[in-house]
Amino acid sequence: MKDTVILSIETSCDETAAAVVVNGRKVVSNIVYSQIDIHKKFGGVVPEVASRNHVEKISQVVDEALEKAEMTFEDIDGIAVTYGPGLVGALLVGVSYAKSLAYTLDKPLIPVNHIEGHICANFISNPELEPPFIAMVVSGGHTHIVHVKDYGVYEVLGKTRDDAAGEAFDKVARSLGLGYPGGPMIDKLAQIGNKHAIDFPRVFLEKESLDFSFSGIKSAVLNYLNQQNQKNLPIVQEDVAASFQQAVVEVIATKVIAAAEMLSLNKIVLAGGVAANSGLRNEFKKQLEGKSITFSYPPIQLCTDNAAMIGSAGYYDYLSCHFADLSLNAVSNLKLGQKLYVNHN
Ligand code: KG4
Ligand code: ZN
Repeated sequence: MKDTVILSIETSCDETAAAVVVNGRKVVSNIVYSQIDIHKKFGGVVPEVASRNHVEKISQVVDEALEKAEMTFEDIDGIAVTYGPGLVGALLVGVSYAKSLAYTLDKPLIPVNHIEGHICANFISNPELEPPFIAMVVSGGHTHIVHVKDYGVYEVLGKTRDDAAGEAFDKVARSLGLGYPGGPMIDKLAQIGNKHAIDFPRVFLEKESLDFSFSGIKSAVLNYLNQQNQKNLPIVQEDVAASFQQAVVEVIATKVIAAAEMLSLNKIVLAGGVAANSGLRNEFKKQLEGKSITFSYPPIQLCTDNAAMIGSAGYYDYLSCHFADLSLNAVSNLKLGQKLYVNHN
């Protein structure tokens, strides 16, 4: 069978990215231009600045992806692009660029959900992986337990009722004066800290609930820091980081494993930026000891935002002829499983 080559574009937040992916699983090139250094000085992503930098970089990043793949536009079967969720101005840069390519080259335009992309990163790193399975999506904006029933068929079983997991990491990092993005720094500090030093609350919500709440633990950390300061007691940053991280990862692993057992599913995968967290990975491994559930996660460069994951998701959409016409628009609050553009042409 002839290979299907997807050129994919991702600009939903602060990474300008393009990739070439063959048959949804093989990454031929994966170019990521990160704006982190630009946003660092503001302590977070500034939407206007992100859009402007995407405009400046998109063309170069796409050209580089093709060059690295040793391909031309002629070799491409379809153009996949993230159209939500994300920052609307940032998304629009990728969407407009993809639309113009699809129009000029007369190739199918494939609209991809960013969260779906995160999940599909696992198809790249784990060639054996096939649905059904449970995916835990933990990123800066999302915390979802997803039942992946089939390629492109998702049911969200639980989600955060307030902060996303990554947001909690970033906010706690900021209160410790660690800068942005805080997740990787908390992770690093936690590795040398004592995770039993401070007993932060584990928020499980109602019995059987698969939802999350992380705003309580964030406040608990702030209260702890204030109390220590008021009493003139020392703050051991690595112990705070380790204890906070442990409280978060314990709840996540417990709920995800409960979801898998409830549905008799024997595969769990992690997705999204926080999936890079070493404490989270270790906690899953610990809680899964003796259980016949397999557990996997993508390498770090496929956990954080990239276009290869969009190319994988786009391939499965290509197979099911899930194409968009040139009216495709960015949808900043796009939900997982919501297919707004289905045009069987
Ligand atoms: O998936 P992602 O790159 O962007 C979104 O779609 O949101 O996730 C970014 C988030 C940030 O909150 C960042 O702090 C967090 O992922 N993150 C981590 C780690 N690496 C990135 N959180 C905890 N531990 C890490 N090692
Ligand atoms: Zn993301």
